[in-house]
Amino acid sequence: MLAVVPPPVTVRVPSKINLHLSVGDLRKDGFHELITVFHALSLTDEVTVAAAEDPGIEVYGEGEGSVPTGANNLAWRAVQALAGYVGKDGGEPKVRVVLRKGIPVAGGMAGGSADAAATLVGLASLWKLDIGRDDLAEIAAKLGSDVPFALYGGTALGTGRGERLVPVLSRHTFHWVLAFDQRGLSTPRVFGELDRLRADGDPPRVGSHAPVVEALASGDPRQLALLLGNDLQAAAVSLRPGLRRTLRAGVNAGALAGTISGSGPTCAFLCADAQSALEVAAELAGAGVCRTVRVAHGPVPGARLVGGDDLP
Ligand code: C5P
Repeated sequence: MLAVVPPPVTVRVPSKINLHLSVGDLRKDGFHELITVFHALSLTDEVTVAAAEDPGIEVYGEGEGSVPTGANNLAWRAVQALAGYVGKDGGEPKVRVVLRKGIPVAGGMAGGSADAAATLVGLASLWKLDIGRDDLAEIAAKLGSDVPFALYGGTALGTGRGERLVPVLSRHTFHWVLAFDQRGLSTPRVFGELDRLRADGDPPRVGSHAPVVEALASGDPRQLALLLGNDLQAAAVSLRPGLRRTLRAGVNAGALAGTISGSGPTCAFLCADAQSALEVAAELAGAGVCRTVRVAHGPVPGARLVGGDDLP
């Protein structure tokens, strides 16, 4: 008798930027206490999971050559974590995961975390699990600080190491231009550089997140532009001084403001509207300050099945 093989499942998952990122003290577990406002963008990855006799990962698209395809890929760790959670232990789970990447690798936009979140959502459907997004978020938090946000998307306040989330009301679609750098930056290295800068002096810190939350509720991009702030920016610029030029070039091209996304090196530029974003993108692409430029809008939802039912 032929075994019934379930059809492959594809999940689309957003990238994120941090509209506000306040980095607190280094904790004993090696993480820093954060207060951050995450914002999910329409720059996405697509992840397909399928039952297969030859388990493994394939990667196509943005940065495909530099993404690990072995057990150290966060998406594969997501496969193992979900298999463990539902008692499918014992040997490698018989699934193939195909990552189609639009999110830059090691770019500060949580692309690896997005793929892990999408894998959890995809497998929950492929394996027909009776499991909701909140249960997946518990597994997600163990995989990485940014994985839970990729499940929910939208705009959210993150605390702890970034994994504790509360939704933030955002009344408006904001338009962004993203500038990808030639090479990625290692997140632990950027946090380490901030610790070093703070040990040497006292670099200015971003203030409270409250005004950012108010600006999001008002929906006025000009108000929000004045409030973008990221404690990791000084560290990313210290490691990659050319980013200062990129940030300036975006504002010279007509953006309302620019910020480093997460630990960088991607720069995110807030624009007045969709038309302005296209104009800023065109000018920035010609300025020779980055590898490539994308436009995106936010907020958008978290990891979602493409053309199918969704999780409870
Ligand atoms: O959680 P995730 O694996 O994405 O974190 C990658 C690295 O970034 C950590 O190992 C740590 O060095 C740094 N990090 C941190 N504080 C956080 C989040 C990440 O120091 N809140």
